[in-house]
Amino acid sequence: MVSSISIVSFAAAVAIVASWASQLVLGSVEKETKALLESGWWSHEYLNSTTTTPCNLIAITCNAAGSVTHISMNGYNLYQTKLGRFLNGSSFPNLVSLNVDGAGLIGSIPPEIATLSKLTYLDLSGNYLTGSIPPEIRELGNLTHLDLSDNELHGPLPQALGHLSKLKNLHLMSNGINGSIPPEIGNLKNLEILELQNNHLTGALPSALCDLTNLRNLSLGWNQLGGSMPSRIGDLKSLRSLQLCYNRLTGPIVPSLGGLENIELIDLSENLFNGSIPIEICSLSTLTRLDLSYNSIVGQIPFQLFNLTNLTNLNLAFNNLNGNIPSSILQQSKMISSIYLDGNNDLSIIDKVGPNSRKIRIIAFTVSIILVFSILVLIIVTVVRKCGCKYKTCQSLTPSKNGDIFSIWNYDGNIAYEDIIQATEDFDIRYCIGTGGYGSVYRAQLPNGKVVALKKLHTSEAEEPALKKSFTNEVKTLTELKHRNIVRLYGFCSHKRCMFLIYQYMERGSLFCVLNNDAEAKELDWRKRVNIVKGIVNALSYMHHDCTPPIAHRDVTTNNVLLNSELEAVVADFGTAKFLDPDSSTQNTIFAGTYGYVAPEAAYAMVVTEKCDVYSFGVVALETLMGKHPKEVLSSLSSSSTRNLMLTEILDKRLSTPTSRSDVHNVVLVASIVFACLHANPQNRPTMETVSKQFLDRRTPLTNLCFQEISIGHLMNPQVLLSING
Ligand SMILES: *[C@@H]1O[C@H](CO)[C@@H](O)[C@H](O)[C@H]1NC(C)=O
Ligand SMILES: *[C@@H]1O[C@H](CO)[C@@H](O)[C@H](O)[C@H]1NC(C)=O
Ligand SMILES: *[C@@H]1O[C@H](CO)[C@@H](O)[C@H](O)[C@H]1NC(C)=O
Ligand SMILES: *[C@@H]1O[C@H](CO)[C@@H](O)[C@H](O)[C@H]1NC(C)=O
Ligand SMILES: *[C@@H]1O[C@H](CO)[C@@H](O)[C@H](O)[C@H]1NC(C)=O
Ligand SMILES: *[C@@H]1O[C@H](CO)[C@@H](O)[C@H](O)[C@H]1NC(C)=O
Ligand SMILES: *[C@@H]1O[C@H](CO)[C@@H](O)[C@H](O)[C@H]1NC(C)=O
Ligand SMILES: *[C@@H]1O[C@H](CO)[C@@H](O)[C@H](O)[C@H]1NC(C)=O
Repeated sequence: MVSSISIVSFAAAVAIVASWASQLVLGSVEKETKALLESGWWSHEYLNSTTTTPCNLIAITCNAAGSVTHISMNGYNLYQTKLGRFLNGSSFPNLVSLNVDGAGLIGSIPPEIATLSKLTYLDLSGNYLTGSIPPEIRELGNLTHLDLSDNELHGPLPQALGHLSKLKNLHLMSNGINGSIPPEIGNLKNLEILELQNNHLTGALPSALCDLTNLRNLSLGWNQLGGSMPSRIGDLKSLRSLQLCYNRLTGPIVPSLGGLENIELIDLSENLFNGSIPIEICSLSTLTRLDLSYNSIVGQIPFQLFNLTNLTNLNLAFNNLNGNIPSSILQQSKMISSIYLDGNNDLSIIDKVGPNSRKIRIIAFTVSIILVFSILVLIIVTVVRKCGCKYKTCQSLTPSKNGDIFSIWNYDGNIAYEDIIQATEDFDIRYCIGTGGYGSVYRAQLPNGKVVALKKLHTSEAEEPALKKSFTNEVKTLTELKHRNIVRLYGFCSHKRCMFLIYQYMERGSLFCVLNNDAEAKELDWRKRVNIVKGIVNALSYMHHDCTPPIAHRDVTTNNVLLNSELEAVVADFGTAKFLDPDSSTQNTIFAGTYGYVAPEAAYAMVVTEKCDVYSFGVVALETLMGKHPKEVLSSLSSSSTRNLMLTEILDKRLSTPTSRSDVHNVVLVASIVFACLHANPQNRPTMETVSKQFLDRRTPLTNLCFQEISIGHLMNPQVLLSING
């Protein structure tokens, strides 16, 4: 205790002595009780001066002598009290663990933190702490776990951190920490997890980082780190995850990377790396994900990469790679389920024609890759993933309600935050009704009887900048859109640790799930199916033509079309929607969408126009007619066997063939629209406005052909249909 006092600042020492003076008559346990009382963390009903021991309090553990050893307030709402109030005095000489994760604490981390010299575990993450990390932290030499992530800390990483030689886990991500990484970090020889991502760190990576040979996780992404990759990085023999994405690192990817014999994930994307891919990477047999996209990497891709048996995700897009990759090599590779090579000007995938032929044929590689790998693999993944609810991730949290973090509007009466927590029993899995593009979806019946749907980000997702962005994007877009065929957003909560959206509840769930359930699919007769297609058309036409600026959805799938009790459709899931700049005909953007629904040009040219939605709509409408994803039809549109298929052969067999005049008319109309929308050239696809007019115009019969005689070929060539109309 005395040695602790000698290190705190003079002012703090004065404060401590002053507080002692008032407590001189108290014994040590009484002093702890008094300090807990003054912390403001426990209300007076729980703790008051007549209480002689704090050990019966919730969240407190004591030792045999009645002195506090563990405090675990994570998730309690401490009503924005200052951390300084708790640390006002040296009152917890035996505290080994302090966990105040996500409790709404404010203020800075005071130098008095040094008085907790026995601490081994300190978690202050997910609060609103400001100021910088005090150098006095050096006195917490017993710490093995330090988590200050997800606060509003600024200033530099203190060199003093280098004194915490017992640290195993150091989590400082998602703050505003600036300056460079001090070389003293190399002293933390026991460090296993170092997470500094999502700060404002600058400067070079100190080569001392490579001394941390016990490191399993090194996450430095989303900073402004520069300089080159330390040449000794291969010394990190225990490393499983290396994340350096979104920085300004330059120079070569060093060959020593090949020494990371336990590595599973390497993400170097969005940097300025400019050498070639070192062949040594190809010896990383444990590697499952390699992302080198958005750099300036040159040279050829070493083919041995495709022989890595555990590599499932490979992203080399947007570099300056060149050379020819035989498609046979890609097909040989057993494990890769997604691969991105687009945005490399001189890179081609070639199809060797015949074993000895010197003639090579360049194929449109991105499309073929997405077809070869993703339609087969990712669609299956999608199907499995989206019709259930596997997660229980909502924590018991009580976020505060002030500021703009919680906003609900436009609903008869108010929805209170507490009502939502109560209605879902704090997001209990029993209320979960599915998972969306991100997050889980819950059903909540409010006290007034109304039912709403809630989409809540998983805690891990809320920490991912890209998903956070989807969330805010969805709020921003949906507040602009008011249409009966677009899901209504009633409000949202965007507390750091509990982010959710409140929507109109759609009783029958997604079109995808209805089509995948035989009984429900039968209920969805031809009239209802055509009606659903019309609803989607109206929604997209409104977004593309009645909004300024126009909005592209970018992820139109049967999963994102929801049905109410009347089986009427609304378009949902606006996480990837994009406002289109009317002054530019095409817009570069990062890839968005779901495999199997993405227009070919969007997959390889990274452009977004309304016409990408038109294509995806075509897939969704065709899936609605067929009752299942039309992947075989899509991949063979140009083959004569597909053209010779009869429309009646591809229609959902669970319904009887349409017979009434209006059903026949409508099904043929939808089918002819579908194939126009699936045109490979975006310019030849109709606009959603044209499509919506076609639905309104019911005067002329479409064709004189008998329904049984209409083939896909006819539908792909509307002139044939029209001329028959004559
Ligand atoms: C002090 O706490 C006890 C229980 O912890 C409670 O019964 C009592 O009413 C409290 N006294 C005051 C003055 O708040
Ligand atoms: C610390 O305690 C002193 C004396 O009890 C008090 O005057 C001061 O306001 C307290 N500081 C904080 C931050 O609570
Ligand atoms: C670590 O804790 C022990 C008691 O468990 C204490 O004696 C020692 O001073 C602490 N070490 C440091 C560096 O604070
Ligand atoms: C870090 O940010 C603070 C303001 O928060 C600024 O005063 C300081 O100069 C910055 N330091 C560096 C090294 O950028
Ligand atoms: C390790 O790093 C990855 C990102 O590369 C992250 O998703 C994961 O949560 C980290 N693991 C731990 C235990 O911190
Ligand atoms: C890579 O970039 C660095 C720094 O911008 C430069 O000095 C170096 O010449 C570049 N190397 C290559 C191979 O382009
Ligand atoms: C590849 O993955 C499997 C399953 O995850 C694992 O058992 C195996 O050890 C991995 N192989 C290597 C070389 O890491
Ligand atoms: C990949 O493995 C196959 C069979 O295991 C082998 O025939 C081929 O030569 C290997 N390719 C490369 C580039 O190492």
